[in-house]
Amino acid sequence: MHHDHVKPFPEGFLWGASTSAYQVEGAWDEDGKGMSVQDLTEPHDGITDFKVTSDHYHHMAEDVELMAELGLKAYRFSIAWTRIIPEGVGDINRKGLEFYGDLIDRLIAVGIEPVVTMYHFDLPLALQKQGGWSNRATIDAFVDYSRVIFDAFADRVKYWLTINEQNMMVLHSAVLGTGEDVSEKSAYQQCHHMFVASSKAMKLLHETHPGCKIGPAPNIISVYPASSKPEDVAAANEWSCLRNWLYYDAYVYGRYNPIVWAYFEEHDLCPTIEPGDLEAMAEGHPDYLGMNYYATETVQAPPADMEVTSGGDQQHTQGIPGMYQSVANPNLGKTQYGWTIDPVGIRNTLCETASRYDLPILITENGLGQHDTLTEDGKVHDDYRIDFLRKHYEQARLAINDGVKLIGFCPWSYIDLVSTHEGFNKRYGFVYVDRTEDDVKELKRYKKDSFDWYKKVIATNGADLG
Ligand code: BG6
Repeated sequence: MHHDHVKPFPEGFLWGASTSAYQVEGAWDEDGKGMSVQDLTEPHDGITDFKVTSDHYHHMAEDVELMAELGLKAYRFSIAWTRIIPEGVGDINRKGLEFYGDLIDRLIAVGIEPVVTMYHFDLPLALQKQGGWSNRATIDAFVDYSRVIFDAFADRVKYWLTINEQNMMVLHSAVLGTGEDVSEKSAYQQCHHMFVASSKAMKLLHETHPGCKIGPAPNIISVYPASSKPEDVAAANEWSCLRNWLYYDAYVYGRYNPIVWAYFEEHDLCPTIEPGDLEAMAEGHPDYLGMNYYATETVQAPPADMEVTSGGDQQHTQGIPGMYQSVANPNLGKTQYGWTIDPVGIRNTLCETASRYDLPILITENGLGQHDTLTEDGKVHDDYRIDFLRKHYEQARLAINDGVKLIGFCPWSYIDLVSTHEGFNKRYGFVYVDRTEDDVKELKRYKKDSFDWYKKVIATNGADLG
């Protein structure tokens, strides 16, 4: 809808930035940290592993100083489960608690709200060896881990996020490094266990720390029909139910989406649900919804002889025979990595989500992965990133005017880090880290042009997006 007078971003808006532990910290085997499934990744096809990354673990004080200079109001980071409980269950690693306690204290000291993701793709390897999320014991392990980190940090951390991109782990286990390409049937069983685990964690936090807020952080996008053909609209609706609403419906309403459940029945994918599971799901309620948004998808009804030759990645799928087929959207450009660029799509996605759930929303990720060049005088002229983010902020502000309760926006990423499956050269940060895929050099930090731009945006509470 058109707004004659566009209201500004609200006071207290959480101008943030995001990272995740395994992609930014390095120090993969230091100070008592156990191994996670991500630590199995070896360098391949010219792409680095996750052992050093941006070495935030050893540059944390410097990184927080730069955050303060940027003027961040919030910093979304994840806790590595294996730094806290190296084997996933059992002994607690005091040094891990100290690292995150120190980070949280430093953030608070400079006025930055910590937003903590409890688990971001880095399941403890010891749990994976016992079946990972296929094993119901992982539910209890996650709840025990939740209790430890709530007890340690919930006096200072108000905003919590349970599981990052559960939907992408279920749909793309191969590219998200979970160590195995699981069958669809077992992926949905794992998914069910994650629903139960995150619901129990939400309930636990509400019982033990009633002042805190907790929510999920799936990857949510509008799915467009390729045409006005009713069959294409049905394909878009069904894919959206399977990739988006299955997750928010389970987190918010504690139940399975009926369209998805029918798909499960049709394809023998129904998870085993133990007594008490649905009650647990119904008892955990998010206070707000995290949303990772990068790109939209456009789909059509699939041809009868459709073949799928690759599993795709977070923003790119070929389709599901019998349900949908992805097609190019002639109205949208693409990034260097083939993801569509759709700023209006963030407004569409926010409005669709708000009208379904009417909860506050925090954009927990959005950004542009692209090669950057460090000039001889130590600059990075990333005007393409500024342009990308500016357009998304403009649309987010319109979404607020449309009625969306948007409480903050945390672009991916605060600092350059290792992409999930496309290496270090796919950079997202406001801060450049000087290293290559195979040479970590001195990991010196440089402020990109987007750093100065974002600093001005934050200082004006979004009034100046120019
Ligand atoms: C999201 C993840 O899928 O997208 C992040 O939560 C990830 O961990 C980000 O890095 C960008 O994806 P990629 O594949 O470019 O790293």
